[in-house]
Parts: sequence; structure tokens; C-alpha cells
Amino acid sequence: MIQLYWKNATDRVIPAEHGITVKDLESIEPAIRSAHSAVMEQVRGGKLGYAALPGNTQYRAAVRDLVDRYRPETTDLVVLGIGGSTLGNIALQAALKPATYNLLSDARRGGPRLFVLDNVDPALVGDTLSLLGRRIKTTLFNVISKSGETAETAAQFMIVRDMLRKKLGASYARRIVATTDAARGTLHDIAAAEGYATLPVPDDVGGRFSVLTPVGLFSAAMCGIDIDALLAGAAAMKQRCDNPDWRDNPACVLAAVKHLAFTAKGKVMHVMMPYSNRLYLLADWYRQLWAESLGKKTDRAGREVFTGPTPIKALGATDQHSQVQLYREGPNDKLVIFLEVAKHPREVRIPDAFGEVPGLAYLAKARLGKLLNAEKTATEYALAASARPSVTLRFNSITPQSVGEFIYLYEFTTSLAGELLNINAYDQPAVELGKKATFALMGRDGYAELAREIRPFANADPQYLL
Ligand code: PA5
Repeated sequence: MIQLYWKNATDRVIPAEHGITVKDLESIEPAIRSAHSAVMEQVRGGKLGYAALPGNTQYRAAVRDLVDRYRPETTDLVVLGIGGSTLGNIALQAALKPATYNLLSDARRGGPRLFVLDNVDPALVGDTLSLLGRRIKTTLFNVISKSGETAETAAQFMIVRDMLRKKLGASYARRIVATTDAARGTLHDIAAAEGYATLPVPDDVGGRFSVLTPVGLFSAAMCGIDIDALLAGAAAMKQRCDNPDWRDNPACVLAAVKHLAFTAKGKVMHVMMPYSNRLYLLADWYRQLWAESLGKKTDRAGREVFTGPTPIKALGATDQHSQVQLYREGPNDKLVIFLEVAKHPREVRIPDAFGEVPGLAYLAKARLGKLLNAEKTATEYALAASARPSVTLRFNSITPQSVGEFIYLYEFTTSLAGELLNINAYDQPAVELGKKATFALMGRDGYAELAREIRPFANADPQYLL
């Protein structure tokens, strides 16, 4: 079970100006209790689709059917998508497979190589498609878009479909799996017309909460990740998050600490800092979940609040040599959320190579995992010495179970955080203007007026250009 350790965010360790006091906890108690019952009411009323995913058997059966069909004949899997339609896939793969996965031989990998094209950067797309070469015949493309018309995903898909048609002729449709709305949308209609295999994105699960739907499960299962264990982990955490005794509920305590840090102690930046490369990209997934859910202009009563802590990612120990100077001596506006692993997926021992060199003798025969974890404790201590708060999420080991726990814990904490801020955590209205401006700049019908408005941005003013 993942554990939350939060003492270093309290006035037991750092001054009360920055650390949470008993009085702070007493003052937030009514709000966290009512946030928990409000979220639980939404869960029971079937309004929070993500909360039903750990127990859903239909989606995993649909995923397994397609995995059974495609895995034996697939050497490479390319995922097309962006935002909530790919961040989870990337995080699962990074956490549960070695960084060298794609470089292993087919036999040792035991599943297809995985490439996730989560951008329209022509170098990324061009380089990846060129690499496939003759393996194109055994490559499967999983295009993921809930709405079915996200510009970035649509562009990637048009390139891939064209390439497949040219190289494979009539059989091209067999190399595409479309993950999209089950009933409507542009991608849904194209998939139906061209006969692609499809997987559903549930209507009631937003993109950033969709990693435990076929969106994230298909690429994971194709690469041999145990999705049953992943969902079992989420289910186990769901039980803990359902607990109305808030002091014993990790999501309630995490949400309360984060809310108090944000609103009462000026900690407007929430830095997730895994001491594990495997967990680093979970911090990317967290950044989207936290930013899109909580960064809001208005509260639910329509009042302007311009709220939301800024999520940041950092990697231990690497960023000790990059960010920690600022975290300790810069503005005291950060709460650090460490991710710590007791037993790393692999261990490497440092040899006794320079026994006679005094400055290096302490490293001789030590395990790298011990060194990494000592660095985490050292940073925790150093931050506290500068009155900087932190909490730690402790993974006993990195398994599908513990990653599933983490995912559900953070999703539920996000729901609670939305309640505490009294904002809608499930929309993202501010993303729209940039999307429309892109349509205008690309000449989409109906956007001519906006294109005129944007012109000064498209044509730089020479007076300001050096
Ligand atoms: O979390 C979100 O809602 C977004 O990040 C979406 O996932 C992203 O914009 C992609 O949308 P779609 O799946 O509709 O292509």
C-alpha cells in the first residue's frame, strides 16, 4: 500500500508561518468533511465516471479481446493522441517497463515496441515514421481522441492513414485501432465507415481522468503490463478514499494539507519530485490533472477567483543539482511532494574501486538505491532546515498495483481539492481560445474574423524585433 507521510508539512518540523498547525487542521475539518461527502455523493450518484473504473470489467474485456487479436502479429505500436489521451499511456509505460524497453530484442521485450506521438512536432512524427521502415506491415496505430476532432491528433492520423494506404493498399484499415466515443464524433464515424477496430472512451470520464479506461489500458496491455493488477490497485485505493474518517483517508489528508499550504501558507507551487526515474513521468500526468482541473478563473457561483496551485515536476536526485538551490533559498512558495520507493525495480551495487581514496570510501559496496533514498531524506531535511514544507508518498515497490493506487489517490484528491476551492474541476474552458485561434490561423471555415483579430500576433511588429 502507498503511504502518505506528512509530518514535514507541519509546525512540528517547520515554523507555523509555513507549517500546518493543529489549529489549521481543526479549522479545515468541516470543509474537508463536507468535500468528502459531496464527492462521495457524486460517486454514488454515478456522476464521477472515473470512480467506477476500478470495478469495471467490460472495458478490460474489450481491451483484452483486441490485445489477443493484435499482440501476436504486432512488432510496433504507435499511439497517436495528445493531453489526457496520451499522458497516462506514457506514464504507465515509463513506470512499469524499463527505460530501455524499445531497445530490447523482440524476444526479451515480449511485446511490441511502443512509440507515443503526443505532439505535432514534424521532427518527432517524421523521425518515428521513418524508423518503422519495413516493420510498417506489423505496426499497429492506436489513434486516441475522445472528441474525435482534436487538431493535433487529426493531423497525425491523416498522415498515418495516407502512409498506410500507400504502403499496404486495401488492408490498411487492419493496422488501425481507434479509441474514441462509442456513439458519435468524427473519428467514430470514420472508424465505422472504414472498418477499424474500436475501443470506447466512456462519455462520463474526462480526458485527464481516462488512464484507467481503454485509453491507457490498451497500450499497457499490449506491452505486457498487468492491467488487472493496475485496476486492483486502484480498487484498493478507492476503498481507502471512500473512508469517511478523514484523518484516516490518504486523499482527504493530502487534499487538506495541499489546500492549507495553498490558501493559508502561501505555497502556490506544488512540486512533485519523484526519487525514481520510473516515476518521473507520473509527475507529468499529475501536472495535467492538477493544472486543468484546478486552474480556474471563476468559482461555482460565478465569482472571479483566479485560483489553482501551479504543479511543477522535478526529478531526484538529478534536480538537486538544478532546482534545490531555488527551492531552499528562493521564495518560500512551494510545497514539495516527494515520491519515494523502498525497493527499486533493480538494484546496482557500487564496487569497492577506490578503497584507499578517503573522499570516496563511504560509497564503496553501497547500493545505488540506498544512495538515491539517502539523497531524498537529505533533501527533505535540507528543505525543512529552510522552513520549506514537504510530504512524501511512499511506494514499497513499483508495481502495477502501486501505480494503480497512486492514480486513483491523485484523481480522488483532485476531486476533493476542487470541492475545497469551490470550482468545477472537470472542465477546461481556457483551453478553447487557443484551439480556435489555431483553426483561424490554419484557415478553417468560419474563423475568418478571429483570423483578422490574430493578425498582429502572426505578423511581428518590426519595431520590437531585434
Ligand atoms: O484532459 C483533457 O480533456 C484534454 O487534455 C484532452 O484529453 C485533450 O485535449 C485531447 O482531447 P481528445 O481526446 O478529445 O482528442
